[in-house]
Amino acid sequence: MSERDLELRRLANEEVEKHKDTVESDPYRLKYHHMPPVGLLNDPNGFIQWKGTYHLFYQWMPFDTGHGAKFWGHYASEDLVKWRHEPIALTPSDWFDKNGVYSGSAVVHDDELYLFYTGNVKDENDNREAYQCIAVSQDGVHFEKQGVAVNLPEGYTPHFRDPKVWKKADHWYMVIGAQSEDLQGKVVMFQSSDLKNWELMGPVTGSGEGTLGSFGYMWECPDLFALGGKDILIVSPQGLEPQGMNYANTYQSGYFAGALDYNTGKLEHEDFRELDRGFEFYAPQTTLDEQGRRLLFGWMGVPDQYEQAHPTIEYQWVHCMTLPRELTWNGTQIIQKPAEELKQMRGPVLLHSSITINNDQKAIRGIEGKSVEWNLEFEKIEDQFAIELFQYASLSYKDGVLTLSRPHLEDKTKTEFRRVALEQGLKSMRLYVDHSSLEVFINEGEEVMTSRIFPQPEEEHILFTSLGESTFSIEQWKLDGFQHA
Ligand code: FRU
Repeated sequence: MSERDLELRRLANEEVEKHKDTVESDPYRLKYHHMPPVGLLNDPNGFIQWKGTYHLFYQWMPFDTGHGAKFWGHYASEDLVKWRHEPIALTPSDWFDKNGVYSGSAVVHDDELYLFYTGNVKDENDNREAYQCIAVSQDGVHFEKQGVAVNLPEGYTPHFRDPKVWKKADHWYMVIGAQSEDLQGKVVMFQSSDLKNWELMGPVTGSGEGTLGSFGYMWECPDLFALGGKDILIVSPQGLEPQGMNYANTYQSGYFAGALDYNTGKLEHEDFRELDRGFEFYAPQTTLDEQGRRLLFGWMGVPDQYEQAHPTIEYQWVHCMTLPRELTWNGTQIIQKPAEELKQMRGPVLLHSSITINNDQKAIRGIEGKSVEWNLEFEKIEDQFAIELFQYASLSYKDGVLTLSRPHLEDKTKTEFRRVALEQGLKSMRLYVDHSSLEVFINEGEEVMTSRIFPQPEEEHILFTSLGESTFSIEQWKLDGFQHA
């Protein structure tokens, strides 16, 4: 470890200690989601299961609640439920990553854990440089940097980052989020036989490729994998204009389903579809775990979307991860469900099997709490059904459209909305509330809405409203948290 590396670790750990009490006193701290110990957390990185242990790294700015020269923080777990914080994995200590150890992924090779990441560099005139770099570990805790594996190819700007690496047959492949010199967002693919020497194949797809048309000026955090007979490209494009209910956030995250030609690196694909319809979701990353499940974590945040208006900033931290989701393909689209293991967090169940509300607003006995899971199954919604959460957010269904609303984070006199159309109507909703987060899995994972919520900490009211008659069942579980230590 270099002097600079040791120094950065010391400074970051000091920062954690210095603000520990402040951070931990925040009523908006979450109990069962990953958060930074101090400072800013963004993308999930290097998500992998190795020798039984799940590793989840994260983009971390320890010194500030804004973006900057990122570190890789590191959580580990045997069961996706109880997580421990491991020592810092990577610091921006070298010439090739001095302005940030940016996002990337992990693979296992020859009994070692390989991390691929982007070294973000700003030269003396503030011009950006991007290097795709490798770090290796024998024990999954200590990582040794091996320097630069891929330099910027011709035809692209230095917005070239977030390598996701995987193996197919006896070859390695890497996709990178990119911007071409004519300022179009792309995903670019490389191949390698040894993980060290990488050959450029070309764009997988992108703005201006094939029949896609204009589709954003930069694509971040690609991920490419097979699911139920399809090849899926997940990506976070920047520069899409809102279109009806779609693309309502500052930047989007979604996928193209199709068929990847491994000889050319080209993906023939269907239309882009958003993975999440809430206010905060970005830069998701998946892994194939040892049971063969495709699991996903997303960042519960969006870059440049009033990040500084989050009230947690007063307490020296900002942002968290989503819950882990399992992905499957139903023949038409990706289905996302909370990982099965999350049931281990549940306390005893409270069940109301048939509740009818007719032109009324009601609380339901025992339905309360800030660290809870609710499962609602609908028998009938005659006209309109709504849940008011903590006098803050509301989820409301009418005419085939589910709407999530909350006060605008910057201007609390305004309400903001996210909407999703449900072709088959609203059949079920599984909600996870964790103090300042809300995740809603709709119709068994056909759609998901993920958002931060900042109700008054002591406010616990949950109200159910129906115009016309609604009949439903509700189950509630109080959820235990995991240790962040
Ligand atoms: C996405 C992103 C990535 C980059 C990282 C830096 O949120 O901008 O493209 O690698 O964050 O923290």
